Amino acid sequence: MTAAQPILTVQGLRCSIAGQQVVEDVTFEMPATGITAVLGRNGVGKTSTLRGILGLIQRRGEVRLDGERIDGLPTHRIVQRGVGYVPEDREIFSKLTVAENLALAERQRAPRREFVAELFPDLVARRDQLAGTLSGGQQQMVSVARALINDNRLLLVDEPTKGLAPKIVTEVTEALRVASETVPILLVEQNLEVVRRLADTAVVIGGGRVIHTGKAQEILDDEDLTRRLLGVHAEAAA
Ligand SMILES: Nc1ncnc2c1ncn2[C@@H]1O[C@H](COP(=O)(O)OP(=O)(O)O)[C@@H](O)[C@H]1O
Ligand SMILES: [Mg+2]
Repeated sequence: MTAAQPILTVQGLRCSIAGQQVVEDVTFEMPATGITAVLGRNGVGKTSTLRGILGLIQRRGEVRLDGERIDGLPTHRIVQRGVGYVPEDREIFSKLTVAENLALAERQRAPRREFVAELFPDLVARRDQLAGTLSGGQQQMVSVARALINDNRLLLVDEPTKGLAPKIVTEVTEALRVASETVPILLVEQNLEVVRRLADTAVVIGGGRVIHTGKAQEILDDEDLTRRLLGVHAEAAA
């Protein structure tokens, strides 16, 4: 039996912003199914790693999508190849309605409107509401829905539960779990209870490098390791 090819392979990724190196040497492989968590303290380079993969910031090193090099491609070509992005700060159009936000995200002939509507009934009810007037949780759902409306091969999702009320965290978590049955997700997440519920594998970044990879469950179950790698108690963060 041969192991399935990783959907994403990152080898020696280095990124810089305005001449300043923010990712030193990130190397990892991501399986073609399920959710892979990217963990690490604030400022270690998690967001920059995602932005480097997408070519949004200057990068060097090898990035392969399903075995094919994408590190030489401009961002729009990477997106066309099926990489969706849910950025840390959501980046939805606040002066447009929910429906308009989703329509603008559609880039394929058969957008998955029904799938998204089933996943986020709240958004269907609010389709004519200006996105800027939604709650933080609803805005996050719009942002995730914008990525899911296309049939992507890989989703990069950056801190989707940040700043949300516990009930909404649960809703967003459940939506990501359902979504992950159709597309592999690389998830940056600081809420370790969410990581515990969603992630199969985890990649821990420290100081711009990968300092640990393994089963998410094993990392979270190991209190010493969690404290050493993340500087938190798994239970305290739950
Ligand atoms: N626009 C920017 N200009 C300069 N430095 C930045 C910028 N964005 C991030 N950085 C720096 O890059 C490093 C990694 O940041 P980031 O990738 O956002 O970390 P994380 O997502 O893990 O919190 C940090 O030291 C941060 O200060
Ligand atoms: Mg970040």
